[in-house]
Amino acid sequence: MFSNQYYNNNIMGLKINMGSTIALLLLLAYAANAQPGVFDIRKYGGKSNGDITQAVIKAWQGACQTAGRSKVVIPKGIYRMGAVTFSGPCKGRIEFQIQGTVQAPGGRGYFKSGSWVTFLRIDGFTLSGGGTFDGKGKSVWGTKSCSGIKYCGDLPISLRFDFISNGLIQGITSLDSKQFHINLLGCKNVTFQRVNIIAPGNSPNTDGIHLGRSSGIRILDTKIATGDDCVSIGDGSRDILVQRVTCGPGHGISIGSLGKYTNEEPVVGVKVLDCTMTNTQNGVRIKTWPNSFAGTASDLHFENLVMNNVDYPVLIDQSYCPWRQCKAQIPSKIKISDVSFKNIKGTANTKGAVKLICSKAVPCKNVKVTDIDIRYQGKDGPATFQCTNVNPTLGGKHNPLPCTVK
Ligand SMILES: *[C@@H]1O[C@H](CO)[C@@H](O)[C@H](O)[C@H]1NC(C)=O
Repeated sequence: MFSNQYYNNNIMGLKINMGSTIALLLLLAYAANAQPGVFDIRKYGGKSNGDITQAVIKAWQGACQTAGRSKVVIPKGIYRMGAVTFSGPCKGRIEFQIQGTVQAPGGRGYFKSGSWVTFLRIDGFTLSGGGTFDGKGKSVWGTKSCSGIKYCGDLPISLRFDFISNGLIQGITSLDSKQFHINLLGCKNVTFQRVNIIAPGNSPNTDGIHLGRSSGIRILDTKIATGDDCVSIGDGSRDILVQRVTCGPGHGISIGSLGKYTNEEPVVGVKVLDCTMTNTQNGVRIKTWPNSFAGTASDLHFENLVMNNVDYPVLIDQSYCPWRQCKAQIPSKIKISDVSFKNIKGTANTKGAVKLICSKAVPCKNVKVTDIDIRYQGKDGPATFQCTNVNPTLGGKHNPLPCTVK
């Protein structure tokens, strides 16, 4: 009896609570609609299947001029959008929420700034919402002016982040960029999380995420399938973490290329951990140009990696010279030091499982290789572990047999 009464009271309590919760939710919903910090493109004439360029610029201006937190919202739907730069500095922290799919114009020539969507000089920034930036790359790939040595340099990058600090980019998709998907320059403390990057394996120069002159960058739990490097880390990168990234198709995760230009800044502190490469051209790679300007790359660590059918799983290439653009016989002047490769397993698609080809002018220093198990099934096997101008320190078990074992 006592327990029954208690039960009844509790049910009544629950009813009262539910009633007041519903009232509260309605109130909150009403308040959210009228919330001054939310800048929905529909308020500015943005419509599904329409061109939202002007609406999104107005929404951004409103949000950026708002003190405290504010939010730009592109709701579910399909939209067209021309080249846009979202500039700061803004008066408060800003969130850009894309729930729908935004499509770039097709063809070339439309993009004077070299990019489609640029986020510029913003401190305290979030890009989220689960939506998609569709770069419409299929409209330009394979055209005659853009194949082989012709670099397609005049095609736009889909998403540029220039001088962004304290940023979070999560849960968005970049589809079919015309050139790079995502480029970072001069950024500090920016995290990419659960981002999807998708383009066909034969799409030219569609690097996934390229970064340069940036520090404190984390790329986590991200899926990259594209036609060039999944992640490429250029000069002036410091304190970079790439973790739980899957790559393939693509050209792998690269540091470089370095040394092509004068006044390049050092690359210091890169960790690539817990990543999987599938059917990629390279696994992890450090690449520098021969006949190059001087520079350094140090404190570079690659650990717990799985390679599935990768052409060159572990590669230092200091004679990187695609399309014979350089005098390959003059050695690179980029000094590489304090590098480790540890616990790298899987299968190679050529016999060149481990290739450490360092510069004759500045041999690699303090390179450690521990626990490698890479199998190769081809008739010209077995797999090899090649060293040129480097004398690595070995640890753990090794397959293939390392260069220093005669
Ligand atoms: C880095 O950026 C994130 C995201 O904006 C922020 O929450 C965090 O406090 C920042 N960290 C530092 C050290 O400023």
